Amino acid sequence: MTKRVAFWIFFLGTVSSTVIFLWLTWDTHRQVVALSHADQLSDDVVAGKRVFEKYNCNDCHTILGFGGYYAPDLTKVVQRVGEEGVRYRIRSPEAAFAKSVRKMPNVHATESEIDSLVAFFRWVGNIENGDWPPQDSGQGLSRGEARMVATQGVSPGAAVFKTKGCMNCHSLQGAGGTFGPALDAVGGRKSLDEIRQYIRDPKSVNPQALMPPQSGLSDREIEDVARFLSGLK
Ligand code: HEC
Ligand code: HEC
Repeated sequence: MTKRVAFWIFFLGTVSSTVIFLWLTWDTHRQVVALSHADQLSDDVVAGKRVFEKYNCNDCHTILGFGGYYAPDLTKVVQRVGEEGVRYRIRSPEAAFAKSVRKMPNVHATESEIDSLVAFFRWVGNIENGDWPPQDSGQGLSRGEARMVATQGVSPGAAVFKTKGCMNCHSLQGAGGTFGPALDAVGGRKSLDEIRQYIRDPKSVNPQALMPPQSGLSDREIEDVARFLSGLK
């Protein structure tokens, strides 16, 4: 290869990479409004972002990969733990993360601030970001859920357990909350009737119960989730 050929390879290589890079950058910017659903940026979402800044949630958490690396990324937190799950964790981090080594402070946010935060997280979670950053939080809820689905199938009872806040306090296969006991083998400890009764009205079984009555569940949902749990031995 002569010096001249080497020069042209270098020169054309640099120019073409630069052009491609600038074109992709421009193309990405062109799509930002659509990919982020900027039209859904309501006042509530904006207020949520302000609350997020007010309490410096970013010191510990990342969103879209930006922020502190101490705590789980919150980009898809609504999809991961549900809106009620998010509320519960902000309201009572002491209980939600009782057995966790890493602690989250209680910022004593007001209910309306929590509403705004949830709106903000819902909006952020809908940004089409090509699944970036990878979502496996400290609690591994998404991975745990995947495992749960793989091993137990998605029965209606499993779906109730996953979506009706049980996982705020209980875990299955290591995924979920730590305020209540893990329920992996609850079917071996309790009969179907006992489980059903516990979900309906914990205090009727155990006057010292810390679990609140699950009044948001229909009879059908209680039946499904009780059957699901009684099968776990
Ligand atoms: C001092 C650091 C710190 C600050 C500040 C902080 N958090 Fe956290 N947060 C944590 C830690 C640590 C965890 C994970 C605990 C665990 O799972 O063991 C967590 C977990 C969470 C979770 C559950 C995430 C999941 O995937 O399960 C949510 C939601 C959350 N934080 C929201 C917030 C919000 C909203 C704020 C601001 C109001 C905030 N955090 C401020 C440390 C912090
Ligand atoms: C706010 C936290 C919380 C939520 C939410 C919660 N539980 Fe509980 N649960 C507990 C605690 C704590 C216990 C341990 C006994 C007690 O203090 O009540 C418990 C105990 C239980 C038990 C008895 C376990 C045993 O080993 O004897 C069952 C069954 C149960 N929960 C099912 C559920 C189901 C199903 C849901 C969702 C519909 C749910 N729980 C939601 C906190 C909770």
